[in-house]
Amino acid sequence: MIENNFETILKGRRSVRNYDPAVKISKEEMSEMLAEATLAPSSVNLQPWRFVVVESDEAKATLKPLIRFNTLQNETSSAMVLIFGDMQCYERAEEIYGQAVAEGKMPEEVKDKQLESIVPHYKGMSPEKMNDIVKIDGSLAAMQLMLVARGHGYDTNPIGGFEEDQLAKAFGLDESRYVPVMIVSIGKALEGGYESVRLPVDKITEWK
Ligand SMILES: Cc1cc2nc3c(=O)[nH]c(=O)nc-3n(C[C@H](O)[C@H](O)[C@H](O)COP(=O)(O)O)c2cc1C
Repeated sequence: MIENNFETILKGRRSVRNYDPAVKISKEEMSEMLAEATLAPSSVNLQPWRFVVVESDEAKATLKPLIRFNTLQNETSSAMVLIFGDMQCYERAEEIYGQAVAEGKMPEEVKDKQLESIVPHYKGMSPEKMNDIVKIDGSLAAMQLMLVARGHGYDTNPIGGFEEDQLAKAFGLDESRYVPVMIVSIGKALEGGYESVRLPVDKITEWK
């Protein structure tokens, strides 16, 4: 069942670490959630996020030694979604902008003009800058995935505690190209998450 009340989705989200291990999310529904998550914005729409859905026992066993203290999420979740950022995301610029033209969402001249500046700019970018961009964009997709999952009746936990330098290689990705952004565990909550607090807006905001 899809929950459409935004306040329920937003205020009901908590990091959930213990899930019902009997609940599996179908590939169809997971694909739907990922498609919804990728409606997130990204820098010049290059959509640098890439996902690895870790759901089989075998893949979870591969992940286990790489996730430090986060083993309960791995053992009980329907899936651990590994989110990577593609440091060569500009390789897909033609495909993305071409699709926009084909769907009548962008005039051909606009595409040509934009690609002429975007592609060389991105190709010439320092690895540090590109790393920042793909991590910002990947994090937006991660946040959206967490809210989308709530809409689908599931819970999540964003996970940053993992062996960053080993994750890509362990799952067969080129580690010089794909940088890990975050892992998001997804499943049906067995135990609700802890309530957490937030700093008040007046302590974290300056008005100029
Ligand atoms: C980037 C990031 C990394 C995190 N890493 C972990 C983690 O490794 N393990 C974990 O149990 N929770 C992790 N968390 C969850 C936070 O502890 C949690 O979001 C925070 O305490 C607020 O609670 P809430 O998510 O229930 O609102 C992470 C959250 C973020 C945003």
